[in-house]
Amino acid sequence: MTLGSISTAARAVSCRGLTKSFGSGNVQARALQGATLDVSAGELLMLVGPSGCGKTTLISIIAGVLDADGGECQVLGHDLMHLTPGQKTAFRSQSIGFVFQSYNLIPPLSASDNVALPLLIRGVPARDANARANDMLAKVGLADRVASLPGDLSGGQQQRVAIARALVHRPALVVCDEPTSALDHRTGHALMELLSDVALAEGRSLIVVTHDARIFGFAHRMAEMDDGRVVHVGRPNAEQLQAAALTPHAALKEAAP
Ligand SMILES: Nc1ncnc2c1ncn2[C@@H]1O[C@H](COP(=O)(O)OP(=O)(O)OP(=O)(O)O)[C@@H](O)[C@H]1O
Ligand SMILES: [Mg+2]
Repeated sequence: MTLGSISTAARAVSCRGLTKSFGSGNVQARALQGATLDVSAGELLMLVGPSGCGKTTLISIIAGVLDADGGECQVLGHDLMHLTPGQKTAFRSQSIGFVFQSYNLIPPLSASDNVALPLLIRGVPARDANARANDMLAKVGLADRVASLPGDLSGGQQQRVAIARALVHRPALVVCDEPTSALDHRTGHALMELLSDVALAEGRSLIVVTHDARIFGFAHRMAEMDDGRVVHVGRPNAEQLQAAALTPHAALKEAAP
């Protein structure tokens, strides 16, 4: 299988000509103007592009948290354009881990309870859910903050809680919006290693929106967006890898999907 021609069977995401506008009349923002993107099973795809080009909008549609106006969107065998709201909720809770740009933690819940939520929704008993949540919080370096409320954590710590919450139920597709923006280089690098390990295990897939050139070396492929469209997809180029200033990881592995 080559990167240029991903077989349909190995596709986790297949979006064609997606459109999405916000607002109405003269104050319409055309966030997506025919965005097309494929992500294969086992792939880490990074999505880059200038502020306002539609990155968050595109991944929100792929994750089933936002409805497109038009186009096609197949994710993990589901036709998202034709799911009922109830089916979409079930799809999200079963199959998707989402790290929001703004973290979206629930303020009155402890870090442990925030991370346990996706498990509770899936019917895992509270004790087991909190034990698994605490294990995942330990993996992101927050073993000593499981009882803390989000408001008592730093931005980088809240970001790590959000990442733990996205990974805890081992979803088939993890979608992260700027997961390292609040983290120093070392913590960001460690988080990307964890994300790659956990989110890509067993043929699962990972989409990372980022402006952080330091993590480009983790990508199998980079998708570049501009003005509501995906304008280029390919392996990280020399310039991007140079900007990463770290040893390329998955990018140069022979076994890339
Ligand atoms: N809820 C909304 N209501 C109105 N306009 C919106 C909304 N969400 C996004 N937009 C507009 O859609 C366009 C794309 O926004 P989006 O958030 O997808 O960009 P982005 O590429 O994620 O930008 P950034 O890098 O700054 O996060 C922008 O012009 C934005 O102002
Ligand atoms: Mg965004």
